[in-house]
Amino acid sequence: MLPSVSTSDQLDELMTCRLDSGRKAVEPCSIIIFGASGDLTARKLIPAFYHLFKEKQMPAAFRIVGFARREKTDESWRAELREALGRFSRTQPVDDKAWQAFAGSLSYCRGDLTEPEAYRALKDKLESFEDAALRRNLLFYLAISPSQFGAVVEQVHRAGLLQRDGDSGWQRLVVEKPFGHDLASAHALNSELTRFAHEQQVFRIDHYLGKETVQNILMFRFSNSIFERLWNRESVDHIQITVSEKQGVGGRGGYYEEAGALRDMVQNHLLQVLALVAMEPPVSLEAESIRDEKVKLLKSIRPLAPEDVTRQVVRGQYFAGVVDGQPQPGYRQETKVKPDSNVETYVALKLFIDNWRWSGVPFYLRTGKCLPLGASEVRIQFRPTPHVLFAAACGARLDPNALTLRLQPNEGIYLRFNGKVPGMSLGVRPVRMHFSYDSEFGAYTPEAYERLLLEAVAGDATLFIRRDEVETAWQIVDSIRNGWEGKALTNREFYAAGTWGPIAAEELLAAGGHAWRDPQPLQ
Ligand code: BG6
Repeated sequence: MLPSVSTSDQLDELMTCRLDSGRKAVEPCSIIIFGASGDLTARKLIPAFYHLFKEKQMPAAFRIVGFARREKTDESWRAELREALGRFSRTQPVDDKAWQAFAGSLSYCRGDLTEPEAYRALKDKLESFEDAALRRNLLFYLAISPSQFGAVVEQVHRAGLLQRDGDSGWQRLVVEKPFGHDLASAHALNSELTRFAHEQQVFRIDHYLGKETVQNILMFRFSNSIFERLWNRESVDHIQITVSEKQGVGGRGGYYEEAGALRDMVQNHLLQVLALVAMEPPVSLEAESIRDEKVKLLKSIRPLAPEDVTRQVVRGQYFAGVVDGQPQPGYRQETKVKPDSNVETYVALKLFIDNWRWSGVPFYLRTGKCLPLGASEVRIQFRPTPHVLFAAACGARLDPNALTLRLQPNEGIYLRFNGKVPGMSLGVRPVRMHFSYDSEFGAYTPEAYERLLLEAVAGDATLFIRRDEVETAWQIVDSIRNGWEGKALTNREFYAAGTWGPIAAEELLAAGGHAWRDPQPLQ
């Protein structure tokens, strides 16, 4: 039982001690970043390691070695990263004392990814580290194009730095999406990654899993009996998952022409959120138990034949409009986009999960660029009451109860139910109960990468995607792409930038007697 506390100082002390006790056990190690000159390193990786260091979460001893082709010294790389931290750190101003202490662990190794000598130089550098654990425990972060994964893994192995069944220390590979562009390429990529490493050594990042609120889906579901017993076909009418973005594709037109919203967002982030919302309770909190349940869930999604795709999937593309009062060009006018492109910037899907818990419950998923608001939420829409007692005062249909998990921004949870309007009448209207992360816990919002990097250093794979998860998700996406094969977008699939998507997406829900509930700009 928690001790009772009476003053805010005591409460702070208690909170701190609970945070400390949640500290991960991390062994001394070296982190080698391939692609050290890239954007991801400067924007996300180094700021995340810096914050982990500041918060005393990094191992007692660690080194970070940047590996890239450009000519740089340790000093010039550090200076570059310090400047980038000033722009990208979530806390400003940068704490220079902490930075100096952190920067002492950073060093640079120049090399071409395909040259064996470069890996020998890397090995020499690692061998110069005084602590044996820094030479043996190695985390390789592949912040490079997936087409280079195979070559790097092979070279690292040949240099004797990556062992599959080594008995000294540990070695891990951390990789970023895209994990292929369809099932066949994902399969080939996974085979390359596991040529010289076990699947357990591969940590595939989906940054959505590092978000506090996404992690909270499991805590919320499995630590609250009042909600969990409603979490099934008996009580739930349907579920909506929305991940909307205000931005267009901006400078990423070239990438987006190859990807599209289905590959860019649905294959990974949306299906991951769906899996967490709908999976069965895991037998334990072990990584494999949780990932087993997610895979089971993805496998129970009813397969889509091409004719189902026509009925259950809507794609869309934005044309010129106004977002937030600013003119926004259409997708076809964006840089590096074909003027007659059929690539989707919006997808809405109606999926069914053929298992005991969810049989017959529609899951509506949607994501899009250039929508009116950037927000992610999961809405559990409960069944209506069997009979409306107050029909004379409020009409034949009461707004059904709904629970919204707001993943970002204004992270929180809202329960919508009906209440009596004060006064003599029997008027009923929906009201809300509201939990906000910020008001409850303060504005402590670590970046998703901080959590994910810490887990990778600690060797906990729970928040990373297993091979069979990736491949099952691609199967779903491939079946949708098959249904689209050779079909151009129709007029009903275009939407003006700054609106909530194409008319066809409204019709998709209307066909089941439902309507999208758009995220609101919350206080
Ligand atoms: C990335 C996609 O994975 O996620 C981007 O490639 C998208 O297109 C981004 O904008 C959204 O992430 P977040 O954390 O801003 O919701």
